[in-house]
Amino acid sequence: MHRTERPIVVLDFGAQYSMLIARRVREAKVFSLIMPFDTLVAELRALNPAGIIFSGGPSSVHAEGAPLPNPEVFKLGVPILGICYGAQLFAHMLGGKVAASSHREYGIAHLEHDDTTGLFKRVHKRTQVWMSHGDAIAALPEGFESIGRTENCPYAAIANRHAKLYGVQFHPEVVHTPQGARILSNFVRTICGCPASWDMGSFVERVIEQIRERVGDKRVLCALSGGVDSSVTAVLIHRAIGDRLTCVLVNNGLMRKGETEVVQRVFRDSFHIDLCYVNAEDRFLAALEGVTDPEEKRRIIGNLFIDVFEEEARKLGHRDFLAQGTLYPDVIESASATGGPSATIKSHHNVGGLPKQMDLELLEPLRELFKDEVRAVGKELDMPDGIVWRHPFPGPGLGVRCIGAVTKERLATLREADFIFINEIKQAELYRSIWQALVCLLPVRSVGVQGDERSYEEVCVLRAVTSEDAMTADWFRFPPEVLQDTANRICNEVKHINRVLYDITSKPPGTIEWE
Ligand code: XMP
Repeated sequence: MHRTERPIVVLDFGAQYSMLIARRVREAKVFSLIMPFDTLVAELRALNPAGIIFSGGPSSVHAEGAPLPNPEVFKLGVPILGICYGAQLFAHMLGGKVAASSHREYGIAHLEHDDTTGLFKRVHKRTQVWMSHGDAIAALPEGFESIGRTENCPYAAIANRHAKLYGVQFHPEVVHTPQGARILSNFVRTICGCPASWDMGSFVERVIEQIRERVGDKRVLCALSGGVDSSVTAVLIHRAIGDRLTCVLVNNGLMRKGETEVVQRVFRDSFHIDLCYVNAEDRFLAALEGVTDPEEKRRIIGNLFIDVFEEEARKLGHRDFLAQGTLYPDVIESASATGGPSATIKSHHNVGGLPKQMDLELLEPLRELFKDEVRAVGKELDMPDGIVWRHPFPGPGLGVRCIGAVTKERLATLREADFIFINEIKQAELYRSIWQALVCLLPVRSVGVQGDERSYEEVCVLRAVTSEDAMTADWFRFPPEVLQDTANRICNEVKHINRVLYDITSKPPGTIEWE
């Protein structure tokens, strides 16, 4: 991507939080990229970064095979901020000392600093920070001084102002460091001198121009699911090339209530996008008959999706590009030094398998963006709130929420329960506070009493989580009335469900979906 601004490069040493660091930098309106720790210096130089951030990492600098950057990185002459393990790298590589702390520090601490113009400009003299480390810096390298300390950590913040090298033992990127965003903003704006130029308005203009340039007078095909990512991708491309875009919406019979109708209405009637609708419900249900294994379900749904999509594409005639709503977390997950967790825990059958067979060039206009940035792009494009704020929904849809056998009847039951839960959440005005809410139908029956009758019916579980990008998640704390109203309505209105549970598992150890 052609840019005039110089980015901030986050070198990833395997931290859980690298992605958060990149997001915080972007929130300071500076473009940031995550690169593996062992990126070649020549490659870094070619990116012409305004500054570099060393992420934290799970390792000890003394561990065998601990990830180290090429020492040449210090010669690039750009400011570097080391976070936690990243800060210890300064001490380890530039002549100081890192040692195991007398006690492992984990949790909240209070930083006292004496810097008013640089990293801690406009940061309270005493401020809460989040610590998570076993090792700590024991001796500073030459040219460094301590610029902040906590009760247990004399080198909680260090600097070599002359060389513009800064290190913090705590994590400024997490919410438990309330002034962390300001500290990161000070680094990128004041120390690295980056202008505040990354915003979604200018992104939209620039990316539309790039799509026009790349596609020229050729034609683009886009698989539309109605989710935020594919929807924003479609509208963006439509803005750029108009009716040379064709979208294909496959109804796999695993969508939520009313979903395919809404998507057709919005895209055909409001956006005037050329949309081809395929109802393949029967084919999917036939293929899933008797299948209960989660991975098997995903494989069947993913492969059949590819078949149906290809058949439709063939009918439509020649296309040159395939548009996909790939986001930055997907890109990093597949490229990161350590590999993202969800890449290996569940197979995600997206349209990613398509181009291999179809010989189409990929067009992924959102591949630099985080989810919240995609939503901001949707707003810029005047897309309706119902689409922009829609919770993520997995490709295999209700197929992986209908635990056990996937049948037309069970799907209908699940669809009604899901509809009620989501409506109750919206009524309580909680929809946007939740990353994702869903219902799973369990392969269990329970005894109940309805009216004067004994019932023996299905059990469903409600799940709602808060998250940033789905890598980790916490269960949502509902006011009890919302759960109560939802459970009452489901038991009263949905035939075949007589018991409702609420899932309070975080991720990890659970995942967001059940299968
Ligand atoms: P898990 O369940 O792994 O999910 O915590 C993380 C996020 O990914 C979504 N998800 C999927 N998305 N195809 C998709 O497009 C899939 O097969 C798939 N499986 C999970 C999930 O809904 C959550 O947002």
